[in-house]
Amino acid sequence: MSFIVNGNAVAGPVDPRVSLLDYFRETLHLTGTKKGCNQGACGACTVLVDGERILSCLALAVQYDGREITTIEGLGEVETLHPLQTAFIEYDGFQCGYCTPGQICSAIGMVAEARRGVPSNVSADLSDSVMLTREEVQERMSGNLCRCGAHNGIIDAIQATITSERATEV
Ligand code: FES
Ligand code: FES
Repeated sequence: MSFIVNGNAVAGPVDPRVSLLDYFRETLHLTGTKKGCNQGACGACTVLVDGERILSCLALAVQYDGREITTIEGLGEVETLHPLQTAFIEYDGFQCGYCTPGQICSAIGMVAEARRGVPSNVSADLSDSVMLTREEVQERMSGNLCRCGAHNGIIDAIQATITSERATEV
């Protein structure tokens, strides 16, 4: 089996018991994706599969044969940050940074979900994702915890990005 990781074809694991998270970190040495709880409760391990956010700690790597996966390493370069990375810096969206890769991958998946009309518990009008309220962004990002308590800055950064002229890059 194989998959595409950040634009590169990569052979998958031989061992069918390996999680996507462990395969990234221990075999591919893509350590940007973090292991927090390792049981689906914190969101630190969030990556994008074909544009949808998933928890890589709960995913067996062998399930993703042929899929296109994006980790934080695939989103931006030092000179050309992804707009959400820029906004997280500008709005103090992190302290220790441990949750940040998951927060940013999750935010990208969240925006895509809103654009597809996937409802949230507080959905109002989904016709225009750039009009997501703060409450709705909070609800849609509630699976990503920050033990440093940087949530206000995280939500500020996401809202600022999806209402900015760079919103189409998310
Ligand atoms: Fe996957 Fe916490 S490490 S949800
Ligand atoms: Fe430290 Fe979120 S910035 S856990």
